[in-house]
Amino acid sequence: MSTVYLNGNYIPMNEARISPMDRGFLFGDGIYEVVPSYDGQLVGLAPHLKRMQDGLDAIGIELRVDYDHWREIALQLIARNGSGNLGLYFHVSRGADTKRNHAYPDDLAPTIFAFAYEIPSAPVADKNATTPFSVITAKDLRWQRCNIKSTSLLGNVMHYQQSHTGGHNETILYNDRDEITEASSCNVYVIKNGIVATPLLDEQKLPGITRDTLLEILRRDGSIAIEERVVTLAELNDADEVWLSSSSRDIVPVIAIDEKPVADGNIGDVWLVAQTLYATHKFDF
Ligand code: PDD
Repeated sequence: MSTVYLNGNYIPMNEARISPMDRGFLFGDGIYEVVPSYDGQLVGLAPHLKRMQDGLDAIGIELRVDYDHWREIALQLIARNGSGNLGLYFHVSRGADTKRNHAYPDDLAPTIFAFAYEIPSAPVADKNATTPFSVITAKDLRWQRCNIKSTSLLGNVMHYQQSHTGGHNETILYNDRDEITEASSCNVYVIKNGIVATPLLDEQKLPGITRDTLLEILRRDGSIAIEERVVTLAELNDADEVWLSSSSRDIVPVIAIDEKPVADGNIGDVWLVAQTLYATHKFDF
């Protein structure tokens, strides 16, 4: 992938430059989004941009997120990088200062960056064509505003790496009351007796667009019961099925946790129904 967007210009990736005084570089002072597209069709652009505006407002970057403007950036990146299946990364940092100061001046011009990268083809609702995850669990050691999609991701990176180093795919996190928060880059679902439970949103969880969309699709369909509530580590370890969700992965079945199988260690039937519905309706949002 070679053409990126930086502050109004489409340029080759290897020519893109930002100042080392950019607060995104020095402090991780910025907000980002990842929007998937399949053969040029975007998934959830409007809710992603709404969450980006919420993030910018939360950290006091005064930028109005204009839907048409960002849609144009997305379409240009798709056109210039050959459609196919692309993840679109959108990034706004507070901008470059002349000195390193924790306090920020009000008049910095935000740095706006976007690029496209290849992603696998759209996940399908087929157990044989799906690679399930094996995950580990860990105490959530991140900050207390995980609802903000901040570019300061060191906590998430460290948690992700914990699983990656051991040959696993993700780390499911729990708080000091042994309640599940989320995973290092996904939301979490625990399925027992046909009921899908997912942790209630608060400042320890990112309000995932896939989560929100999936819950809406399941509610409209009505065949699977959903509970948004506290979900404990004990429930995770006693589940019939466990899923993760994120924009670039849809709904991922988890078949092993901390080296132990989830139920019989196979992809579950409720996942199949949910992924079928999600794959059918995700472009409607
Ligand atoms: N990750 N929780 C965390 C901590 C995340 O980083 C993500 C997404 C999610 C799922 O959110 P959504 O459904 O809106 O993608 C939950 C993205 C994809 C990333 O950082 O690359």
